[in-house]
Amino acid sequence: MIAPPGLEGVAVKETKICLIDADAGKIYYRGYDLEELAERSTYEETAYLLLYGRLPRRAELEEFRARLASLRRPPRHVEEAAGLAASAGAEPIDALRTAVSLMAAGEDLSDRSAEAELARGIKAIAAMPYVVAHFDRARRGLKPADAEYRGHAQYFLASLRGEEPDPKEARALDVMFIVYAEHGMNNSSFTAVTVASTLADMYAVITAAISSLKGPLHGGANVDAAKMIAEIGDPERVAEWVDKQLAAGRRIPGFGHRIYKRGPDPRLKILKGLAKGLAELKGDFAWLEIAEGLEEYVGAKLAAKGIYPNTDLYASVIFHYLGLPVDLNLPAFAMARAAGWAAHALEYRAQNRLIRPTERYVGPVNLRYQPLEERG
Ligand code: ACO
Repeated sequence: MIAPPGLEGVAVKETKICLIDADAGKIYYRGYDLEELAERSTYEETAYLLLYGRLPRRAELEEFRARLASLRRPPRHVEEAAGLAASAGAEPIDALRTAVSLMAAGEDLSDRSAEAELARGIKAIAAMPYVVAHFDRARRGLKPADAEYRGHAQYFLASLRGEEPDPKEARALDVMFIVYAEHGMNNSSFTAVTVASTLADMYAVITAAISSLKGPLHGGANVDAAKMIAEIGDPERVAEWVDKQLAAGRRIPGFGHRIYKRGPDPRLKILKGLAKGLAELKGDFAWLEIAEGLEEYVGAKLAAKGIYPNTDLYASVIFHYLGLPVDLNLPAFAMARAAGWAAHALEYRAQNRLIRPTERYVGPVNLRYQPLEERG
Protein backbone atom coordinates (compact mmCIF):
# COMPACT_ATOMS: atom_id res chain seq x y z
CA MET A 1 0.00 0.00 0.00
CA ILE A 2 1.32 3.42 -0.85
CA ALA A 3 0.25 6.53 1.08
CA PRO A 4 -1.57 9.27 -0.88
CA PRO A 5 0.64 11.98 -2.39
CA GLY A 6 1.73 14.46 0.26
CA LEU A 7 0.45 12.01 2.93
CA GLU A 8 -2.91 13.77 2.54
CA GLY A 9 -5.40 12.46 5.09
CA VAL A 10 -2.86 10.18 6.82
CA ALA A 11 -3.00 10.42 10.63
CA VAL A 12 0.45 9.89 12.16
CA LYS A 13 -0.48 9.97 15.84
CA GLU A 14 -3.30 10.39 18.29
CA THR A 15 -3.22 13.85 19.81
CA LYS A 16 -4.70 15.99 22.53
CA ILE A 17 -2.98 19.16 21.32
CA CYS A 18 -5.08 20.56 18.50
CA LEU A 19 -8.40 19.82 16.84
CA ILE A 20 -9.08 21.43 13.49
CA ASP A 21 -12.75 21.14 12.62
CA ALA A 22 -12.59 22.64 9.14
CA ASP A 23 -16.29 22.06 8.38
CA ALA A 24 -17.43 23.82 11.54
CA GLY A 25 -14.76 26.52 11.06
CA LYS A 26 -13.30 25.83 14.51
CA ILE A 27 -9.83 25.26 15.93
CA TYR A 28 -9.23 24.09 19.49
CA TYR A 29 -5.94 24.13 21.39
CA ARG A 30 -6.11 21.47 24.11
CA GLY A 31 -9.89 21.73 23.93
CA TYR A 32 -10.09 25.54 24.12
CA ASP A 33 -11.61 27.49 21.24
CA LEU A 34 -8.86 29.45 19.50
CA GLU A 35 -11.19 32.44 19.08
CA GLU A 36 -11.57 32.65 22.83
CA LEU A 37 -7.84 32.25 23.42
CA ALA A 38 -7.18 35.02 20.88
CA GLU A 39 -9.60 37.26 22.73
CA ARG A 40 -8.68 36.48 26.32
CA SER A 41 -5.32 34.73 26.55
CA THR A 42 -1.71 35.77 26.00
CA TYR A 43 1.01 34.01 24.02
CA GLU A 44 2.78 32.97 27.22
CA GLU A 45 -0.39 31.45 28.65
CA THR A 46 -1.19 29.72 25.36
CA ALA A 47 2.36 28.36 25.12
CA TYR A 48 2.00 26.99 28.66
CA LEU A 49 -1.32 25.40 27.68
CA LEU A 50 0.22 23.72 24.65
CA LEU A 51 3.33 22.54 26.49
CA TYR A 52 1.81 21.41 29.78
CA GLY A 53 -1.63 20.37 28.54
CA ARG A 54 -3.68 22.67 30.78
CA LEU A 55 -4.11 26.34 31.57
CA PRO A 56 -1.73 27.57 34.27
CA ARG A 57 -2.83 28.79 37.67
CA ARG A 58 -1.87 32.38 38.42
CA ALA A 59 1.36 31.50 40.25
CA GLU A 60 2.33 29.00 37.54
CA LEU A 61 1.84 31.60 34.82
CA GLU A 62 3.89 34.14 36.74
CA GLU A 63 6.63 31.59 37.23
CA PHE A 64 6.53 30.65 33.54
CA ARG A 65 6.76 34.29 32.48
CA ALA A 66 9.64 34.87 34.89
CA ARG A 67 11.37 31.84 33.40
CA LEU A 68 10.93 33.14 29.85
CA ALA A 69 12.22 36.53 30.98
CA SER A 70 15.29 35.04 32.65
CA LEU A 71 16.08 32.92 29.59
CA ARG A 72 15.50 35.68 27.02
CA ARG A 73 19.21 36.26 26.44
CA PRO A 74 20.75 33.14 24.87
CA PRO A 75 24.29 31.97 25.71
CA ARG A 76 26.94 34.35 24.43
CA HIS A 77 28.09 32.07 21.59
CA VAL A 78 24.54 32.00 20.26
CA GLU A 79 24.28 35.77 20.38
CA GLU A 80 27.63 36.10 18.65
CA ALA A 81 26.57 33.62 15.98
CA ALA A 82 23.47 35.71 15.24
CA GLY A 83 25.69 38.78 14.84
CA LEU A 84 28.07 36.86 12.59
CA ALA A 85 25.17 35.63 10.47
CA ALA A 86 24.07 39.25 10.05
CA SER A 87 27.50 40.36 8.87
CA ALA A 88 27.62 37.40 6.46
CA GLY A 89 24.33 38.54 4.89
CA ALA A 90 22.34 35.52 6.07
CA GLU A 91 18.58 35.38 5.80
CA PRO A 92 17.06 35.90 9.25
CA ILE A 93 15.34 32.51 9.23
CA ASP A 94 18.72 30.85 8.59
CA ALA A 95 20.30 32.87 11.39
CA LEU A 96 17.54 31.78 13.74
CA ARG A 97 17.85 28.14 12.71
CA THR A 98 21.61 28.23 13.28
CA ALA A 99 21.19 29.99 16.61
CA VAL A 100 18.71 27.39 17.88
CA SER A 101 21.02 24.61 16.72
CA LEU A 102 23.94 26.20 18.59
CA MET A 103 21.96 26.30 21.81
CA ALA A 104 22.93 22.65 22.17
CA ALA A 105 26.59 23.62 22.42
CA GLY A 106 27.98 23.47 25.93
CA GLU A 107 24.88 21.78 27.33
CA ASP A 108 24.82 18.25 28.68
CA LEU A 109 22.30 16.58 26.39
CA SER A 110 22.51 13.11 27.89
CA ASP A 111 19.22 13.46 29.77
CA ARG A 112 16.45 12.94 27.20
CA SER A 113 13.62 12.75 29.72
CA ALA A 114 10.40 14.67 29.01
CA GLU A 115 11.34 17.21 31.73
CA ALA A 116 14.79 17.84 30.25
CA GLU A 117 13.41 18.14 26.71
CA LEU A 118 10.64 20.46 27.84
CA ALA A 119 13.24 22.63 29.59
CA ARG A 120 15.22 22.80 26.31
CA GLY A 121 12.07 23.70 24.40
CA ILE A 122 11.33 26.53 26.82
CA LYS A 123 14.92 27.76 26.55
CA ALA A 124 14.66 27.89 22.76
CA ILE A 125 11.23 29.59 22.81
CA ALA A 126 12.48 32.18 25.30
CA ALA A 127 15.60 33.06 23.31
CA MET A 128 14.09 33.31 19.83
CA PRO A 129 12.73 36.90 20.01
CA TYR A 130 16.05 38.28 21.20
CA VAL A 131 18.02 36.32 18.59
CA VAL A 132 15.89 37.67 15.74
CA ALA A 133 15.86 41.22 17.10
CA HIS A 134 19.62 41.16 17.69
CA PHE A 135 20.23 39.77 14.19
CA ASP A 136 18.15 42.51 12.59
CA ARG A 137 19.77 45.28 14.63
CA ALA A 138 23.24 43.92 13.86
CA ARG A 139 22.59 44.04 10.12
CA ARG A 140 21.40 47.62 10.52
CA GLY A 141 24.65 48.41 12.36
CA LEU A 142 22.85 48.87 15.68
CA LYS A 143 23.82 47.61 19.11
CA PRO A 144 21.59 45.03 20.82
CA ALA A 145 18.63 46.46 22.67
CA ASP A 146 17.66 44.29 25.60
CA ALA A 147 14.26 45.55 26.67
CA GLU A 148 12.35 44.78 29.81
CA TYR A 149 10.35 41.56 29.35
CA ARG A 150 6.61 42.01 29.82
CA GLY A 151 5.52 39.41 27.30
CA HIS A 152 6.85 37.63 24.24
CA ALA A 153 5.32 40.04 21.73
CA GLN A 154 6.07 43.29 23.57
CA TYR A 155 9.64 42.08 24.23
CA PHE A 156 10.24 41.20 20.58
CA LEU A 157 9.02 44.57 19.30
CA ALA A 158 10.88 46.51 22.01
CA SER A 159 14.14 44.62 21.38
CA LEU A 160 13.78 45.08 17.65
CA ARG A 161 13.04 48.79 17.77
CA GLY A 162 15.05 49.84 20.81
CA GLU A 163 11.90 51.48 22.16
CA GLU A 164 8.65 50.33 23.67
CA PRO A 165 5.82 49.61 21.22
CA ASP A 166 2.33 51.06 21.54
CA PRO A 167 0.42 48.58 23.77
CA LYS A 168 -2.09 48.11 20.92
CA GLU A 169 0.74 46.99 18.63
CA ALA A 170 2.10 44.64 21.28
CA ARG A 171 -1.34 43.13 21.80
CA ALA A 172 -1.89 42.69 18.05
CA LEU A 173 1.38 40.77 17.80
CA ASP A 174 0.50 38.80 20.92
CA VAL A 175 -2.73 37.66 19.26
CA MET A 176 -0.86 36.93 16.03
CA PHE A 177 1.52 34.72 18.07
CA ILE A 178 -1.43 32.90 19.70
CA VAL A 179 -2.89 32.21 16.27
CA TYR A 180 0.48 31.06 14.87
CA ALA A 181 1.37 28.94 17.94
CA GLU A 182 -0.17 25.70 16.76
CA HIS A 183 -1.98 24.14 13.83
CA GLY A 184 -2.04 20.37 13.99
CA MET A 185 0.12 18.06 11.92
CA ASN A 186 1.45 20.59 9.44
CA ASN A 187 4.74 19.95 7.65
CA SER A 188 7.00 21.53 10.27
CA SER A 189 5.23 19.80 13.16
CA PHE A 190 5.54 16.50 11.34
CA THR A 191 9.23 17.26 10.82
CA ALA A 192 9.53 17.95 14.55
CA VAL A 193 7.86 14.65 15.37
CA THR A 194 10.00 12.73 12.86
CA VAL A 195 13.21 14.09 14.35
CA ALA A 196 11.97 13.65 17.92
CA SER A 197 11.23 9.99 17.15
CA THR A 198 14.98 9.37 16.71
CA LEU A 199 15.49 10.61 20.30
CA ALA A 200 17.44 13.61 19.02
CA ASP A 201 17.36 16.52 21.49
CA MET A 202 14.78 19.33 21.41
CA TYR A 203 17.21 21.82 19.87
CA ALA A 204 17.67 19.42 16.94
CA VAL A 205 13.88 19.04 16.73
CA ILE A 206 13.23 22.78 16.57
CA THR A 207 16.14 23.37 14.19
CA ALA A 208 14.67 20.83 11.77
CA ALA A 209 11.18 22.28 12.12
CA ILE A 210 12.51 25.74 11.25
CA SER A 211 14.02 24.27 8.08
CA SER A 212 10.62 22.93 7.10
CA LEU A 213 8.87 26.17 7.89
CA LYS A 214 11.23 28.06 5.59
CA GLY A 215 9.74 26.59 2.41
CA PRO A 216 7.46 28.84 0.33
CA LEU A 217 4.70 26.21 0.35
CA HIS A 218 4.66 26.46 4.16
CA GLY A 219 5.71 29.40 6.39
CA GLY A 220 7.81 31.06 3.70
CA ALA A 221 4.52 32.10 2.12
CA ASN A 222 4.21 34.92 4.66
CA VAL A 223 7.29 36.55 3.14
CA ASP A 224 6.14 35.91 -0.43
CA ALA A 225 2.68 37.30 0.37
CA ALA A 226 4.28 40.50 1.70
CA LYS A 227 6.45 40.80 -1.42
CA MET A 228 3.34 40.29 -3.56
CA ILE A 229 1.40 43.05 -1.80
CA ALA A 230 4.38 45.41 -2.04
CA GLU A 231 4.72 44.64 -5.75
CA ILE A 232 1.00 45.17 -6.42
CA GLY A 233 1.25 48.46 -4.54
CA ASP A 234 -2.27 49.67 -5.33
CA PRO A 235 -5.66 47.98 -4.86
CA GLU A 236 -6.48 48.94 -8.44
CA ARG A 237 -3.70 46.67 -9.72
CA VAL A 238 -4.82 43.48 -8.00
CA ALA A 239 -6.70 41.95 -10.93
CA GLU A 240 -3.94 42.67 -13.44
CA TRP A 241 -1.25 41.19 -11.14
CA VAL A 242 -3.25 38.05 -10.34
CA ASP A 243 -4.18 37.43 -13.99
CA LYS A 244 -0.55 37.69 -15.02
CA GLN A 245 0.54 35.35 -12.24
CA LEU A 246 -2.07 32.73 -13.09
CA ALA A 247 -1.45 33.01 -16.82
CA ALA A 248 2.21 32.22 -16.13
CA GLY A 249 1.11 29.12 -14.19
CA ARG A 250 2.32 30.51 -10.87
CA ARG A 251 0.58 30.19 -7.52
CA ILE A 252 -0.66 33.12 -5.48
CA PRO A 253 1.15 33.22 -2.11
CA GLY A 254 -1.13 33.31 0.91
CA PHE A 255 -3.81 31.25 -0.82
CA GLY A 256 -4.67 27.56 -0.61
CA HIS A 257 -4.41 25.09 2.21
CA ARG A 258 -4.35 21.30 2.44
CA ILE A 259 -6.90 21.31 5.26
CA TYR A 260 -9.28 24.08 4.14
CA LYS A 261 -10.67 23.11 0.77
CA ARG A 262 -14.37 23.51 1.45
CA GLY A 263 -14.33 26.89 3.12
CA PRO A 264 -12.03 29.56 4.48
CA ASP A 265 -9.49 29.09 7.25
CA PRO A 266 -11.24 29.98 10.55
CA ARG A 267 -8.19 31.97 11.68
CA LEU A 268 -8.83 34.54 8.94
CA LYS A 269 -11.60 36.24 10.88
CA ILE A 270 -9.25 36.90 13.81
CA LEU A 271 -6.41 38.08 11.61
CA LYS A 272 -8.59 40.37 9.49
CA GLY A 273 -9.79 42.03 12.68
CA LEU A 274 -6.20 42.56 13.79
CA ALA A 275 -5.16 43.91 10.41
CA LYS A 276 -8.08 46.36 10.40
CA GLY A 277 -7.28 47.57 13.91
CA LEU A 278 -3.66 48.19 12.98
CA ALA A 279 -4.58 49.96 9.73
CA GLU A 280 -6.77 52.31 11.76
CA LEU A 281 -4.04 52.81 14.36
CA LYS A 282 -1.56 53.72 11.62
CA GLY A 283 -4.07 55.61 9.46
CA ASP A 284 -2.81 53.62 6.49
CA PHE A 285 -5.18 51.30 4.68
CA ALA A 286 -3.23 50.47 1.52
CA TRP A 287 -1.98 46.97 2.43
CA LEU A 288 -5.29 46.03 4.02
CA GLU A 289 -7.18 47.07 0.91
CA ILE A 290 -4.83 45.17 -1.39
CA ALA A 291 -5.23 42.02 0.76
CA GLU A 292 -9.01 42.43 0.72
CA GLY A 293 -8.90 42.97 -3.04
CA LEU A 294 -6.84 39.79 -3.42
CA GLU A 295 -9.22 37.84 -1.23
CA GLU A 296 -12.15 38.92 -3.37
CA TYR A 297 -10.53 38.55 -6.78
CA VAL A 298 -8.61 35.32 -6.20
CA GLY A 299 -11.66 33.95 -4.38
CA ALA A 300 -13.85 34.61 -7.43
CA LYS A 301 -11.30 32.91 -9.68
CA LEU A 302 -10.22 29.96 -7.55
CA ALA A 303 -12.84 29.18 -4.88
CA ALA A 304 -14.24 26.50 -7.21
CA LYS A 305 -10.89 24.71 -6.84
CA GLY A 306 -11.08 24.99 -3.06
CA ILE A 307 -8.58 27.84 -2.88
CA TYR A 308 -9.19 30.41 -0.14
CA PRO A 309 -6.83 32.83 1.60
CA ASN A 310 -4.66 31.28 4.30
CA THR A 311 -3.27 32.94 7.44
CA ASP A 312 -0.15 34.14 5.68
CA LEU A 313 -2.03 36.69 3.57
CA TYR A 314 -3.27 38.74 6.52
CA ALA A 315 -0.25 37.89 8.70
CA SER A 316 1.88 39.70 6.15
CA VAL A 317 -0.43 42.74 6.42
CA ILE A 318 -0.21 42.67 10.23
CA PHE A 319 3.58 42.41 10.20
CA HIS A 320 3.75 45.25 7.69
CA TYR A 321 1.75 47.56 9.96
CA LEU A 322 4.00 46.53 12.85
CA GLY A 323 6.96 47.74 10.79
CA LEU A 324 8.73 44.39 10.48
CA PRO A 325 11.19 44.11 7.61
CA VAL A 326 9.56 41.64 5.20
CA ASP A 327 12.04 38.84 5.82
CA LEU A 328 11.34 38.90 9.58
CA ASN A 329 7.80 37.63 8.94
CA LEU A 330 9.11 34.10 8.77
CA PRO A 331 11.19 34.04 11.98
CA ALA A 332 8.27 35.77 13.73
CA PHE A 333 6.13 32.80 12.68
CA ALA A 334 8.82 30.40 13.95
CA MET A 335 9.08 32.08 17.35
CA ALA A 336 5.35 31.51 17.88
CA ARG A 337 5.09 28.00 16.37
CA ALA A 338 8.01 26.71 18.48
CA ALA A 339 5.50 26.05 21.28
CA GLY A 340 3.47 23.78 19.00
CA TRP A 341 6.57 21.99 17.72
CA ALA A 342 7.80 21.25 21.24
CA ALA A 343 4.33 20.10 22.32
CA HIS A 344 4.07 17.66 19.40
CA ALA A 345 7.60 16.35 19.93
CA LEU A 346 6.88 15.71 23.63
CA GLU A 347 3.52 14.11 22.94
CA TYR A 348 5.00 11.72 20.39
CA ARG A 349 7.95 10.88 22.62
CA ALA A 350 5.61 9.80 25.39
CA GLN A 351 4.75 6.77 23.21
CA ASN A 352 7.75 6.85 20.98
CA ARG A 353 8.33 4.60 18.05
CA LEU A 354 10.99 5.48 15.47
CA ILE A 355 9.37 6.96 12.36
CA ARG A 356 10.70 4.89 9.53
CA PRO A 357 8.31 4.50 6.62
CA THR A 358 9.05 2.57 3.52
CA GLU A 359 8.70 3.20 -0.19
CA ARG A 360 7.89 1.23 -3.29
CA TYR A 361 10.80 0.76 -5.64
CA VAL A 362 9.89 1.30 -9.29
CA GLY A 363 13.38 1.51 -10.84
CA PRO A 364 15.34 -1.14 -12.74
CA VAL A 365 17.35 -4.00 -11.17
CA ASN A 366 20.33 -6.07 -12.23
CA LEU A 367 21.82 -3.41 -14.48
CA ARG A 368 25.26 -4.29 -15.81
CA TYR A 369 27.95 -2.11 -14.22
CA GLN A 370 29.76 -0.37 -17.06
CA PRO A 371 33.34 0.64 -16.21
CA LEU A 372 33.96 4.41 -16.41
CA GLU A 373 36.24 4.09 -19.46
CA GLU A 374 33.41 2.42 -21.41
CA ARG A 375 30.93 5.17 -20.58
CA GLY A 376 32.75 7.81 -22.64
N1 ACO B 1 -2.60 29.79 -6.30
C1 ACO B 1 -3.11 29.27 -7.45
N2 ACO B 1 -3.49 27.99 -7.56
C2 ACO B 1 -3.35 27.20 -6.51
C3 ACO B 1 -2.83 27.67 -5.28
C4 ACO B 1 -2.45 29.03 -5.19
N3 ACO B 1 -1.97 29.53 -4.09
N4 ACO B 1 -2.80 26.65 -4.41
C5 ACO B 1 -3.27 25.58 -5.04
N5 ACO B 1 -3.60 25.90 -6.31
C6 ACO B 1 -4.18 25.02 -7.31
C7 ACO B 1 -3.17 23.98 -7.78
O1 ACO B 1 -2.39 24.46 -8.85
C8 ACO B 1 -4.07 22.83 -8.18
O2 ACO B 1 -4.65 23.16 -9.41
P1 ACO B 1 -4.94 22.00 -10.51
O3 ACO B 1 -5.89 21.06 -9.83
O4 ACO B 1 -5.53 22.73 -11.65
O5 ACO B 1 -3.61 21.35 -10.78
C9 ACO B 1 -5.19 22.91 -7.15
O6 ACO B 1 -5.22 24.26 -6.71
C10 ACO B 1 -4.98 22.00 -5.96
O7 ACO B 1 -3.67 22.23 -5.45
P2 ACO B 1 -2.83 21.19 -4.64
O8 ACO B 1 -1.39 21.34 -5.04
O9 ACO B 1 -3.41 19.83 -4.73
O10 ACO B 1 -3.05 21.68 -3.18
P3 ACO B 1 -2.21 21.22 -1.93
O11 ACO B 1 -3.17 20.87 -0.87
O12 ACO B 1 -1.20 20.20 -2.27
O13 ACO B 1 -1.38 22.56 -1.64
C11 ACO B 1 -0.54 24.52 -0.75
C12 ACO B 1 -1.55 23.36 -0.57
C13 ACO B 1 0.87 23.93 -0.89
C14 ACO B 1 -0.60 25.37 0.49
C15 ACO B 1 -0.90 25.32 -2.00
O14 ACO B 1 -2.22 25.81 -1.90
C16 ACO B 1 0.05 26.46 -2.28
O15 ACO B 1 1.09 26.23 -2.94
N6 ACO B 1 -0.24 27.71 -1.82
C17 ACO B 1 0.63 28.84 -2.01
C18 ACO B 1 1.70 28.87 -0.93
C19 ACO B 1 1.12 29.19 0.44
O16 ACO B 1 0.40 30.15 0.64
N7 ACO B 1 1.51 28.36 1.44
C20 ACO B 1 1.11 28.57 2.83
C21 ACO B 1 0.21 27.50 3.31
S1 ACO B 1 -0.33 27.81 4.96
C22 ACO B 1 1.03 27.48 5.88
O17 ACO B 1 1.76 26.60 5.64
C23 ACO B 1 1.34 28.35 6.98
